[in-house]
Amino acid sequence: MKKIVLAYSGGLDTSCCVKWLQDKGFEVICFSANLGSEFLPSQLRNMSKRSGVKKIYVQDLRKEFARDYILASLKAGAVYQGKYLLSTALGRPLIARHLVEVARKEKASYIAHGCTAKGNDQVRLEIAVKALNPKLKIIAPLRQWDLTSRDSEIAYALKNNLPIKATREKIYSIDKNIWGVSIEAGFLEDLENEPKKDAFIMTRSWQEAPAVAEQISIGFEKGCPISLGGKRMELTSLIEKLNKIGGRHCIGRTDIVEDRTVGIKSREIYEAPAAWILHLAHKEIESVTLDKETLAFKDMVSLKYAQLIYQGLWFSKIKSALDAFIDKTQDKVSGSIGLKLYKGNVIVSKRRCPHSLYKKELATYGEGDRFNRDWAEGFINIWGMPHRGQNKK
Ligand code: ARG
Repeated sequence: MKKIVLAYSGGLDTSCCVKWLQDKGFEVICFSANLGSEFLPSQLRNMSKRSGVKKIYVQDLRKEFARDYILASLKAGAVYQGKYLLSTALGRPLIARHLVEVARKEKASYIAHGCTAKGNDQVRLEIAVKALNPKLKIIAPLRQWDLTSRDSEIAYALKNNLPIKATREKIYSIDKNIWGVSIEAGFLEDLENEPKKDAFIMTRSWQEAPAVAEQISIGFEKGCPISLGGKRMELTSLIEKLNKIGGRHCIGRTDIVEDRTVGIKSREIYEAPAAWILHLAHKEIESVTLDKETLAFKDMVSLKYAQLIYQGLWFSKIKSALDAFIDKTQDKVSGSIGLKLYKGNVIVSKRRCPHSLYKKELATYGEGDRFNRDWAEGFINIWGMPHRGQNKK
């Protein structure tokens, strides 16, 4: 029998995929990754078994996700269209890498996923799989079968005795990991609808957030967050803790009409408390420790890097070349940042960096000024020389 490795979440789509692929004559092996969702391995094993799956790999990949994907994106300052910190997008190449690995172990020559034909995730998974092993063949049941609505999938699942939790009134499509939550579809498809309270998972509303600011501090070493409140922490735990703290204060909600890779505009809601706090703090340390040319160039790199992640080009030459540039910029990006969290706002209160380029003796308007006033006039004359008379009437 032909073996196929399916990226399995236990949701309605992938449960239907199992049966559909089996009917096409495949032996289905499931792979589920925990990147920080509400994830119960025993439940997944159970459900896959009841769908007739003989083998399932269930792996906790949170540490690898933080170390190799989230951290790279944080150092890069990658933000898509100003509002999306790429939580879902960053998970896909990691999942692809493990799908390829399982296929190798199982000597399977096929991979399957439950992504739709309209989304970015199919692009990310398939390009990543092909970058790692171009021989693998990919099947995307949702692009082929005639189950074109949620209701028809539910009917198919019921008819085939598949164990599903879904009900007809599932309102949103949600993808959650430790770097954030993506929420789309349903009620949110109307651009005039403000998200209701039930759309949010990680954050309290600003009305329910505490009426006093919470002071935190985050320590960085070479661009990597290493401590919270002065206490050293491993990156995954630090992110998870910061999600709780930031979530209480309604930090990191965004609402965006974004451009998908396939050309569709789509309305999305995101929650990413830890991600926004860390991006902000990291940027603050950079502003103190990097010179202006490096900062300006890195801004362009950030934009490109975010597009590469979003558009599924994680395993590409350009991405690894940019990593080399970014890593080079991070060697002095160390220190600690004090922040206040208050009703959706993150306010910088303290900056302390051992490799600071800020020189008080140059900046000061008070005592101890070491700036040479005599240099200013000559500098202005030469700097402004090409522009003299340019706007003369
Ligand atoms: N639009 C976001 C992205 O492309 C979120 C996708 C959410 N995926 C999902 N399977 N619900 O990264």
